[in-house]
Amino acid sequence: MKEHQIKSACEFGCGEGRNAIYLAKKGVDTEAYDLSEIAIENAKKIARESGAEKAVFQTGDIFALDFNGKKFELVIDSGVFHHLAPHRRLQYRDIVSNILAENGYFILLCFAAGEDGADEVDDYEFYRSKQTGVAYTEERLKEF
Ligand SMILES: C[S@@+](CC[C@H](N)C(=O)[O-])C[C@H]1O[C@@H](n2cnc3c(N)ncnc32)[C@H](O)[C@@H]1O
Repeated sequence: MKEHQIKSACEFGCGEGRNAIYLAKKGVDTEAYDLSEIAIENAKKIARESGAEKAVFQTGDIFALDFNGKKFELVIDSGVFHHLAPHRRLQYRDIVSNILAENGYFILLCFAAGEDGADEVDDYEFYRSKQTGVAYTEERLKEF
């Protein structure tokens, strides 16, 4: 069977760009966004130094980006979703759906219930105790 080469990707909350740089080096045109200007500056520097020209980094808030109808074959969230406040989940899901090409892939890495890293709290508790991250079960993620 012929392997399918993914040509375009978008990463939300890319930090210093390790995933975007990896993809770019594999030949994928990758756009990557993060709230942090410092992270983006570092990502650009690392990408330059490692020859990952296909990675384009930009400072931006996921919730304020305008993709103007653009679609990506792959969307990646490595460590952002689990920090989102519950009331932002649906908007987030719509943003991802809107930029995902038909038959595209969405990769989500997040805190897992039952593992170290974040509390398993319900939405009420998230707000009440000012949590910064939530661990998800597989079922809860699928529901989302
Ligand atoms: C845990 S770090 C993960 C970094 C990177 N994805 C990785 O796997 O190495 C989460 C990143 O998401 C960014 N972030 C959080 N909320 C965001 C938002 N609304 N828009 C863009 N970036 C955001 C943070 O600035 C931070 O760099």
